[in-house]
Amino acid sequence: MEDPVRSIIDLKFMAQENVWEREYQNSKLVTKDDKPQTDTLGFFKYLKRDKKTPLEGLRALDLGCGTGRNSNYLAQEGAVVTGIEISSTALRLAVERAKELGLPQTASVASNTGSVEYLKGDIGFILPFGNDSFDLIIDVTSSNSLTESERGLYIQETHRILKSGGNFFVKTLCKDGDHNAKNLIKLSPGKEKDTYIMPEIGLTERVWSKEDFVEYYSRYFIIEKLEKKTNYSRINNQSYKRNFWLAYMSKK
Ligand SMILES: C[S@@+](CC[C@H](N)C(=O)[O-])C[C@H]1O[C@@H](n2cnc3c(N)ncnc32)[C@H](O)[C@@H]1O
Repeated sequence: MEDPVRSIIDLKFMAQENVWEREYQNSKLVTKDDKPQTDTLGFFKYLKRDKKTPLEGLRALDLGCGTGRNSNYLAQEGAVVTGIEISSTALRLAVERAKELGLPQTASVASNTGSVEYLKGDIGFILPFGNDSFDLIIDVTSSNSLTESERGLYIQETHRILKSGGNFFVKTLCKDGDHNAKNLIKLSPGKEKDTYIMPEIGLTERVWSKEDFVEYYSRYFIIEKLEKKTNYSRINNQSYKRNFWLAYMSKK
């Protein structure tokens, strides 16, 4: 039987892939919850209620889908979903869960029920999809760890493959009012602007001021709503108060 996790990158083993792989094998940061986050559900509700866009039949892409909590949910709601992810371990869990849920593992638009396909790939690279392929793209805290040059490709590619009028949801780390982010930048700075290296994990993350976020994303997308949200992140069994941006966007 064909492996549903098709490798679409043929690059040398990247440092970032190593960090995420290690993280999924021995999690200090990520959770393996299989239900969508409240914030993601809030965005789906906004699509359905405010934008009169039912999830059923949508062609959706989940960037850095992890163990598939959002991809599998979207497929259960009738969307035709592709989840793209750098960690093989996370992908295996996502595929297993999709099987348990009885979801067809294909991204065939012809299917009249929801379905999900999982691909191994890098969201900071050219994406293997044609122009205007998706109605919906989500990035739930996945692009935080891209470098600036990878981020340049990520935003161009996201814009290229999203249909005109399509929706884009981003949840990303916020710098404003986040005491822990400011401490991390001071104590363990990364090489690029507003980045730090997570001690022990070795992961570089970028945090965004409102001004920088708006300036960056509005070059490509219409920001319909931008909300600051405080969550508690667990790292090594300790709880840290962190701020996030929830951005509801669409393509011009
Ligand atoms: C904080 S986790 C969030 C996972 C998922 N979006 C969720 O909401 O559960 C970030 C995810 O992005 C993935 N990731 C990070 N950099 C990536 C890259 N360059 N390409 C593809 N996936 C990446 C990680 O492996 C990880 O699964």
